Amino acid sequence: MRRIRVIGIGTGNPEHLTLQAVRALETVEAVFVLDKGAEKADLVRLRREICERFVPKPYRFVEAQDPERDRAPSDYAAAVEAWHTARAALYEALIERELEEGACGAFLVWGDPSLYDSTLRILERVAARGRLAFAYDVIPGITSVQALAAGHRIALNRIGGPVHITTGRALARGLPPGTGSTVVMLDGDPRFDHLDPDLTIYWGAYLGSPEEILLAGRLGEVGSEIRRLRAEARARHGWIMDTYLLRGPDAA
Ligand SMILES: C[S@@+](CC[C@H](N)C(=O)[O-])C[C@H]1O[C@@H](n2cnc3c(N)ncnc32)[C@H](O)[C@@H]1O
Repeated sequence: MRRIRVIGIGTGNPEHLTLQAVRALETVEAVFVLDKGAEKADLVRLRREICERFVPKPYRFVEAQDPERDRAPSDYAAAVEAWHTARAALYEALIERELEEGACGAFLVWGDPSLYDSTLRILERVAARGRLAFAYDVIPGITSVQALAAGHRIALNRIGGPVHITTGRALARGLPPGTGSTVVMLDGDPRFDHLDPDLTIYWGAYLGSPEEILLAGRLGEVGSEIRRLRAEARARHGWIMDTYLLRGPDAA
């Protein structure tokens, strides 16, 4: 049977790799990389660097283009279903083509596969199609959320309190009541005007990489500076990935 290892690689620093991930990389014969967007070249470069350092035997570095998604469909559910089916077919074809029976391949996933990443859902679909027999396991990685907390030297939660993780799109509807600490990811254009200016924000971009930028403070005071820094960094690099934590004024 073919074997697939889904390996979380952290968020931009090869030293985020766990010892478990390093051991897993020692077993692979092919590495699959599926990225898209302006950040693609830099993200692929980091994965190549990881493979060159940690895969000891000859391996194939297999890059593929994720199928395009219809962003303005008339039937949203049908379009998403079609896109997922296309991705499952692509993953299945890659695994079948690049791995012989008994061989081992890896998907290197940015951060950790459990957080806003579709690799595991797609592999589940491939398995459910029933055409290809393979086994897979998951090696956890450091998420951007952990890198943010480490960069700011903070705990995410208040004592005994909850942590809510959400997206910029969901935050546009406002902070849900009673969420003590909220981590926001996937926010392409953070607009803080609809939020309480007394919130404290802990913001980080390019976390884990040499380009890391950190800023924290009262939202009403640092919000516009974050937007300025963000626009400047995005223009310089051609892309940006950032994450932030919002916490109410009554934080313990
Ligand atoms: C598709 S999600 C992938 C998350 C990833 N699986 C993880 O564990 O962090 C991409 C989002 O993660 C966050 N992110 C990923 N890498 C980051 C980094 N190096 N610095 C800041 N935020 C990052 C950003 O919010 C970005 O929009």
